[in-house]
Amino acid sequence: MNESQIQFSDCKSEIDLYQLQELLNVSAFWAKGRSIEDLGIAIANSEPVISVWDRDRLIGFARATSDGIYRATIWDVVIHPEYQSSGLGSNLVKTVLSHPRMRRVERVYLMTTHQQGFYKKIGFQPNTTTTMVLHNRANLALVQATEVQLQESLGG
Ligand SMILES: CC(C)(COP(=O)(O)OP(=O)(O)OC[C@H]1O[C@@H](n2cnc3c(N)ncnc32)[C@H](O)[C@@H]1OP(=O)(O)O)[C@@H](O)C(=O)NCCC(=O)NCCS
Repeated sequence: MNESQIQFSDCKSEIDLYQLQELLNVSAFWAKGRSIEDLGIAIANSEPVISVWDRDRLIGFARATSDGIYRATIWDVVIHPEYQSSGLGSNLVKTVLSHPRMRRVERVYLMTTHQQGFYKKIGFQPNTTTTMVLHNRANLALVQATEVQLQESLGG
């Protein structure tokens, strides 16, 4: 790897969704098989979105959602296997954290299955007590039923 050719970008429109789909399929067990359309929606609704490039090859990606002041969450941090272990992942997360939408935020969350050691080196701490999850697509019927009840009670 020629490090001088590696560049970080915060420009969403530069991201080739087909390259991103391939990068996630190769490197991110939780994000395999995502459709181009859904990736576009995720990017449109995230800020910052940081990409890492070796010339025109997408080799790293991370995104966050943030209210700009109280809370933010980092998602989909990935460096292509051929480029790992040379400091890019750490720089990628630090680039996300230093973005204007992130740097004033009181608490930054992330979820990780295997990479606690990596994030600890950047300053994150284990946080086992506060997380709950709703598997929303599995509960879609419940949400739709509640919407119907709400509409009925509002006379809609
Ligand atoms: C996690 C990932 C982004 C790290 O990227 P990377 O470019 O390999 O990481 P870096 O080279 O910047 O590593 C920075 C430091 O963390 C250490 N590190 C990396 N992974 C680690 C781990 N799992 N446990 C402990 N330390 C780790 C490195 O040894 C390095 O230490 P040093 O500063 O003392 O040299 C990359 O391995 C990856 O994309 N993995 C697959 C996808 C994934 O699991 N993403 C995280 C989802 S939450």
